[in-house]
Amino acid sequence: MKLFNFLSNNDNKMDIINFEKLFILLGLYINDGDVKKQVIYQVDYMNNSQYKRHKTKFNGCLIGLTDYGYIERFRVPYSFNKDDIEGLKDKLELQTNKSIDIEFISSSNGAYFDIKVYNHKLKSKYNFELIEPPIKDKIVVTLGYGRLGLLDFIIDKHIGLFGESGSGKSTTLKTILTQLVLNYKPSELQLYLSDNKGGTELNIYSNIEHTKAFTKDIKGLKDIFKDLNKEADRRYNLLFNSKLEDIKSYNNKFKKDKLPVILFVIEEFASVYKDKSIQSMLQLALSQWRSIGIYILITTQRPSSKIVTGDLKCNLGIILGLKTLDSNNSNVVIDKYNLLNNLRGNGHGYIRYNGKLNEFQSFYIDHTQVKRLIRKLEIKKENIKDDNVKSNIIELKKEGYKDPKDNNNNIGEVKDFSFLNDL
Ligand SMILES: Nc1ncnc2c1ncn2[C@@H]1O[C@H](COP(=O)(O)OP(=O)(O)OP(=O)(O)O)[C@@H](O)[C@H]1O
Ligand SMILES: [Mg+2]
Repeated sequence: MKLFNFLSNNDNKMDIINFEKLFILLGLYINDGDVKKQVIYQVDYMNNSQYKRHKTKFNGCLIGLTDYGYIERFRVPYSFNKDDIEGLKDKLELQTNKSIDIEFISSSNGAYFDIKVYNHKLKSKYNFELIEPPIKDKIVVTLGYGRLGLLDFIIDKHIGLFGESGSGKSTTLKTILTQLVLNYKPSELQLYLSDNKGGTELNIYSNIEHTKAFTKDIKGLKDIFKDLNKEADRRYNLLFNSKLEDIKSYNNKFKKDKLPVILFVIEEFASVYKDKSIQSMLQLALSQWRSIGIYILITTQRPSSKIVTGDLKCNLGIILGLKTLDSNNSNVVIDKYNLLNNLRGNGHGYIRYNGKLNEFQSFYIDHTQVKRLIRKLEIKKENIKDDNVKSNIIELKKEGYKDPKDNNNNIGEVKDFSFLNDL
């Protein structure tokens, strides 16, 4: 962590924003009798002489500095609520032309908020890149770019992918599925696909060896639940008999006979959620399948509280929130008002994963490109062996395969702002 490196380095050209001036500009005052008082105070956390020098120089309260930006901390003023502070984000971004995140911290000393200022703005489009997974024994997907470089996540929880029509759900889903089938063998990853929008989005994956089931109707969806329930029973028995608690320990023990991770995609959940038996099968599956390596990915363009219910959401460990129609839907998806509704659309979103919220721009990929990339994985008459899949991947690598080791922006290597948790 190059924390405070600029203090000892006079050549550092980082442009530190004078928030005090900005707050004044934005009218962040309250009326106190006749006297207008500024109500946002910067918090004096650093008492060392370096900090004091810095403070007089920049009139800011810098508490963290990395290669990617810096953080300033402020006290939440009396009479301000979370929404007031979150509402600052857009205004500050507009004024400073920088990407900004606001995060709340409550401690015994009171409530604070951090303004994180990023040096680089996300572009509005990144073309698809095939990224070799940084970890071997886990199923990892690179979604696109976050503020700190490539952004990936491990498929080890159920996933919700939500956003209004045209926000980029199907494109993001194609990025995820294409990365998965090109990076993992069918013996490592299997797909069950339920496309409830006429089957037009996911049918391109229907004929590859990874895909164990593809359906575009409710009956087919119910059949998938039945098949996966059987598979779940089989997996529970295997775990029970070997006295192990989850797929991770099972695959560690039986290295030659690993259980593949199963991803069950339900594209446009709103079309099927009214069916009572699907509701109950889904609820049971969500609560039981995670430990045995069967993960469900649900998308919907109508993420209202009626469809994305509390029961559903509490079982979704990974939330991908794209642009929503309004602030209420933003709150339903990501527990924040006025965040997702203000996004650009077109694959611009926030991911909630492992307790953190990160902005991202997902890779752009279109149907033709997917077809071209996965053509070689399609099952001909005879079954494809895993070795063939492997050789296809090697060929694809020649076609512009990107090794994350070549990219020192990888999020896994980033020295991020997490040190703040210790403050
Ligand atoms: N990651 C992206 N980068 C750039 N443009 C994108 C991205 N994702 C989507 N778009 C643009 O937005 C359009 C709509 O995307 P997409 O079909 O994925 O939305 P959707 O959320 O699935 O919509 P619907 O709910 O109607 O199915 C795409 O045709 C493309 O032009
Ligand atoms: Mg779609």
